[in-house]
Amino acid sequence: MSKFILDLIVIENRKLTDQYVLLILKSPEKLPEILPGQFAQVRVDGSSTTFLRRPISIHYIDYEKNELWFLIQVIGDGTYRLSQLKAGEFLNVILPLGNHFSVPKDYKASLLLIGGGCGVAPLLYLGANLKRRGFEVNFLLGARSATDILQKSEYDRYGNVYITTEDGSMGERGFVTAHSLLKSSNFDYIYTCGPTPMMKAVAAYAAKIKAICEVSLENTMACGIGACLCCVTDSTEGHVCVCTEGPVFNITKLKWQI
Ligand SMILES: Cc1cc2nc3c(=O)[nH]c(=O)nc-3n(C[C@H](O)[C@H](O)[C@H](O)COP(=O)(O)OP(=O)(O)OC[C@H]3O[C@@H](n4cnc5c(N)ncnc54)[C@H](O)[C@@H]3O)c2cc1C
Ligand code: FES
Repeated sequence: MSKFILDLIVIENRKLTDQYVLLILKSPEKLPEILPGQFAQVRVDGSSTTFLRRPISIHYIDYEKNELWFLIQVIGDGTYRLSQLKAGEFLNVILPLGNHFSVPKDYKASLLLIGGGCGVAPLLYLGANLKRRGFEVNFLLGARSATDILQKSEYDRYGNVYITTEDGSMGERGFVTAHSLLKSSNFDYIYTCGPTPMMKAVAAYAAKIKAICEVSLENTMACGIGACLCCVTDSTEGHVCVCTEGPVFNITKLKWQI
């Protein structure tokens, strides 16, 4: 797929919590085709510590409005600066980067999309896309507490939403892998993104029930285009760059002990 360098204009910076913002951006040019799971390399201006672009998932795209959404979790200087962008300012991005989640061939396949923390970001666009293609979508979203469950009403638009919180303030108490849904239902496809221990636990569950499972890795990245080798992960095909061969991997390709 061709890559594009675009100056997106900030339409809205919506503060969701102390740590998270939703950036709604508009492209002056028609947005190119971008598939669920792909990401953008975002330029962060104004600081020497943000010399390198930061990888950010495509959270949602509205092609009718030519809008693209990023869900930003403030971690360090780069994401802090992104969280401070104001309506009317420009954000320079390179996209679409990386591979994408696959679409099941069988329209009756039962699907579960499991996200933890900021890993919920790519699952909204994935869920919207799968629903548009006629699939029934189930989201299982996990967070520390109710205030960290982000954008629930958006996920509600595209599927059934199940929640776990570690403190029990919303949904079931505990980790996503302890949700009763996993005991009461069977799934053919599981897509997941979030902290690595969570994804490994999800992968182990998927292997047990013989579901196809795709995980989206968030290895630290510099170039985002396969040139610097800083994002490599070990796979059954040797060391591969997560930015070009991923970020989405079928778990059978990863050398995870599951
Ligand atoms: C494919 C991909 C998609 C991503 N999607 C999103 C998204 O949608 N929204 C979002 O907010 N973030 C996302 N991230 C994570 C985001 O890129 C990092 O949080 C960001 O680069 C940190 O930059 P910073 O300048 O704020 O922090 P820095 O000052 O660069 O780093 C602060 C600390 O965080 C650590 N760190 C940096 N990057 C990562 C990482 N990827 N994983 C774990 N620790 C890291 C650093 O080692 C350091 O300890 C994604 C990452 C990848 C690889
Ligand atoms: S980030 Fe440079 S090779 Fe992947």
